[in-house]
Amino acid sequence: MGYKHKDLLGLSGLSKAEILHFLDCADEFKALNNQEIKKSDYLRGKTTINAFFENSTRTRTSFEIAAKRLGADAVNFSASSSSVNKGETLIDTIKNMAAMKSDIIVLRHPNSGAALLAAQNTDACIVNAGDGMNEHPSQALLDLYTIRENGKSLDKNTSVAIIGDIARSRVARSNIWAMKNFNMDVRLFGPAMMLPKDIDVFGCKVAKNMDEACEGADVIMMLRIQLERGDADVAFPSSREYCKFFGLNKYRANLAKPDAIILHPGPINRGIELNSDVADSNRSVILNQVENGVAIRMAILSTLIKNRG
Ligand code: NCD
Repeated sequence: MGYKHKDLLGLSGLSKAEILHFLDCADEFKALNNQEIKKSDYLRGKTTINAFFENSTRTRTSFEIAAKRLGADAVNFSASSSSVNKGETLIDTIKNMAAMKSDIIVLRHPNSGAALLAAQNTDACIVNAGDGMNEHPSQALLDLYTIRENGKSLDKNTSVAIIGDIARSRVARSNIWAMKNFNMDVRLFGPAMMLPKDIDVFGCKVAKNMDEACEGADVIMMLRIQLERGDADVAFPSSREYCKFFGLNKYRANLAKPDAIILHPGPINRGIELNSDVADSNRSVILNQVENGVAIRMAILSTLIKNRG
């Protein structure tokens, strides 16, 4: 059945088949990425613009690599050096980019809902590369891809612990929407002030402490503290204390299943949410996530271009 929409704004509301479409499609691109000549022409003659109004290392680079491997002309735009600083609105910026006949605009923005607003105001395809605390669909797709690739089923038999600053994490939200859709067994844990006030809407278990969160898990997904989303309510006492009560160390990782895998969307703050002995252990699939991110983004770009005709 595939994915038939103009944009990819989030995973909330997508069907299982739509999500699986991207994962299955990424298999082909992962194989291509492992060849010596990593090129195809799905996007030949097309133009993509990465419009990033927030910092990024992995997401922006991998969308650029993905577009180039598909044969597109990929342009990067960063807000810090643009006319946004002269007072231009998001809608005007997007309309100007579309006027240059760009086919896809990959947008990262600090405000939740920015991707939807952009999508409603242009014919270009919009890919949400992270909007505020709301959604980060390409990240969750690459996470699901990595989980499946490591032999874990996308169903109730797989227990996932998502740990950290869940309230401010768009990565957590996109993953939770998709994982609950697949009926996966999701438990959440983090400092009380970093759990969303409406946590019940997710329908996930909430662990009482780190040991309980990790015990018997197949997948542990650690999250960074999103200090840049500045929210005085969510301040925490000290990194040392955070690490003690909410950080993943070897002892806690060993409470998970023997073949459990550790995920982190990056950037890692070593010694705060994740200790180096875990981040660099053979249970960590963090660099596999990064590798898979290129294939997933190729799947997204090629699907949207196909829909555009
Ligand atoms: C995440 C983001 O920007 O939401 N990073 C990413 O895209 N890999 C998570 C984070 O910044 O902590």
